[in-house]
Amino acid sequence: MQKYALEHEGETLRLERQSLNPFYDFTEELANFHPKEDGTLFDAGCGSGVVARFIARKYPHSHVIAGDFSKMRVHQANHLATGGPQSPDPPRLLP
Ligand SMILES: C[S@@+](CC[C@H](N)C(=O)[O-])C[C@H]1O[C@@H](n2cnc3c(N)ncnc32)[C@H](O)[C@@H]1O
Repeated sequence: MQKYALEHEGETLRLERQSLNPFYDFTEELANFHPKEDGTLFDAGCGSGVVARFIARKYPHSHVIAGDFSKMRVHQANHLATGGPQSPDPPRLLP
């Protein structure tokens, strides 16, 4: 399998910062995304997990699962989801 070109221990932080870029608001991209109540979502290639955390907060009755082929990214995303101030309803992250 080809390695992710931006694989680096700082990639999670880069993705978190990117998500704050006012010129590209991912929450606007998801404005018309309305998951089924009590549905299950899988965020494939979740990176830092910022999108999964957003969906989990916005749709607290959804089951959000996130995965990434980088174990480092999953570890860091899991830390953000369970320890960060932004996540009252953390998604479960697959290794
Ligand atoms: C550009 S980042 C985007 C992260 C996140 N989706 C976001 O929007 O912030 C791409 C992520 O996808 C992961 N990825 C790339 N190919 C993958 C694959 N085949 N399976 C799982 N994860 C993958 C990378 O490790 C990386 O963390």
